[in-house]
Amino acid sequence: RIASALAAPRTVALLRTRVRGVPRVRLAWTSGGHHRALAWATARALVARTSAIVNDPRAAPLRVEVAPEARGTLVIVPEVRPDPRFAYRVRDVPAASHPTIAAALARLGGVRPDDVVWDPFVGSGLELVERARLGPFRRLCGSDLDPRALAAARENLAAAGISNAELLLDHACRAHPPGVTLILTNPPMGRRVARDGSLGALLEQFVRHAATVLVPGGRWVWLSPLDRRTERFARAAGLTVEAGPHVDIGGFTARIQVLRRPGA
Ligand SMILES: C[S@@+](CC[C@H](N)C(=O)[O-])C[C@H]1O[C@@H](n2cnc3c(N)ncnc32)[C@H](O)[C@@H]1O
Repeated sequence: RIASALAAPRTVALLRTRVRGVPRVRLAWTSGGHHRALAWATARALVARTSAIVNDPRAAPLRVEVAPEARGTLVIVPEVRPDPRFAYRVRDVPAASHPTIAAALARLGGVRPDDVVWDPFVGSGLELVERARLGPFRRLCGSDLDPRALAAARENLAAAGISNAELLLDHACRAHPPGVTLILTNPPMGRRVARDGSLGALLEQFVRHAATVLVPGGRWVWLSPLDRRTERFARAAGLTVEAGPHVDIGGFTARIQVLRRPGA
C-alpha cells in the first residue's frame, strides 16, 4: 500500500513540482525504529511499480513519514538543510528578514552601478547583502536604533565579503545619508516595536522623511505592513506607488510596494 501510494501518478506529479528531476524519497516510520524488512519490501515494491520516483535512504531530499501498518496519513516532508545561498547569515536579530524576501526586494529594486543604497531599518543587514550581491553600487548604508542589530549586520556583511558598508546608529526618521538612489527595507511590523498602535504614526513620519532623502529618479522597495496607509502617505509626499503582492511573513501579511520619486 505504501509503494502504491508513492507510485500513484498524482503523488509523482506533486513531488515533481517540488524537486528537479526524478523525486528521491526516504522512508521514516512514525512509530520510530528502522523496520528494515518492511523498508526493503517497500523499496522493492516501489521499483516494481515505477521508475518515476526512487527510494534513496541516504540522501533523499524528501522524507516519507508513514505508519508501518500503512494506516492513516502518508506525509511527505522536504528535508530542510542549510541553504548555501544564505550561508553569510551568521547572526540573527529577533525580527530578521527571511533571506528569500530580502533577495526578492533587492531584485525588484534593480541595479544601477551608481546606486547609493540605504536600509533605514537595517536589522541584521540582509537587504544590503542581497543588493550587494546583485551587482555594482557606489555606497551601501544601513541605520538602526539598536546597536545589537548593527553588530549583527556587521557580521553578516563581513561573512558575505562586503567590507565597505556604512552602518549608523540612528532613528529612521532622522538619518539622512546623502545622495540615496535606492531604499531597500523591511520596517517594523508592529509586533515588537510600536505594539501600542503607533506604527501608523511612525510609518507616516518615516515616509515623509525618506521621500526627502531619496534623490529625484530614486526608487524604494519595501514590505509595508499598512499598505493602504503607506500608499496614501507616499503619494502625499510626491512619490509614485506600484503595489506588489502580499507576502506571508510568518502568520500575517505585508505588501511589497515599489515607490519612485519622479524626476532626474
Ligand atoms: C523587521 S526588522 C529589520 C530586519 C532586517 N531587514 C534584517 O535583515 O534583519 C526592523 C528593524 O528596525 C529597527 N527599528 C525599529 N524602529 C526603528 C526606528 N525608529 N529607527 C531605526 N530603526 C528602527 C529594529 O531595531 C529592527 O532591527
